[in-house]
Amino acid sequence: MAHLDPIAEFREDHRVVRDGILDITAALKGKDLVKAREILGTLNDLTGPHFRYEEEYLYPMMKEYLGEYVDQLISEHNNVIETAKVCSELLAKDELTDEESADAQKAAMAMLIHVSNCDGLAILSERIDQKELDALGDRFAEAREKGIGLLEWADTIRKSA
Ligand SMILES: [Fe+2]
Repeated sequence: MAHLDPIAEFREDHRVVRDGILDITAALKGKDLVKAREILGTLNDLTGPHFRYEEEYLYPMMKEYLGEYVDQLISEHNNVIETAKVCSELLAKDELTDEESADAQKAAMAMLIHVSNCDGLAILSERIDQKELDALGDRFAEAREKGIGLLEWADTIRKSA
């Protein structure tokens, strides 16, 4: 079976997340909670396998180039997970006050910083040899097949790792 291209897929995920965050922010601004909830659900499904692949395989491999910066990326993941939890609790409400909506917009926008930092790894990943890239592609595909959403993964597998 063909190997998944881990760099192309990694970057494509980041594009979807970038757009999702911007769309959630716009939906919150327009007080469209149904839409915001729907996008958050899509992002939760996508980022679960993405984060899992990164923390289990990609980030450890990147330590060779980046040393302790990798720990910063993991701590950014902690923040993203916390923010996602807060957003999902807020969005479970029937209505948001102006303040809650502004807070949620701010929180969503803060997640963009991690998207930008994480995508920087693509330029370094290009130095990984093809055999290792194929192996990474297989691990990425595996994480997607398992398909565990971000919040569920964070509360179960990640917690006990
Ligand atoms: Fe990422």
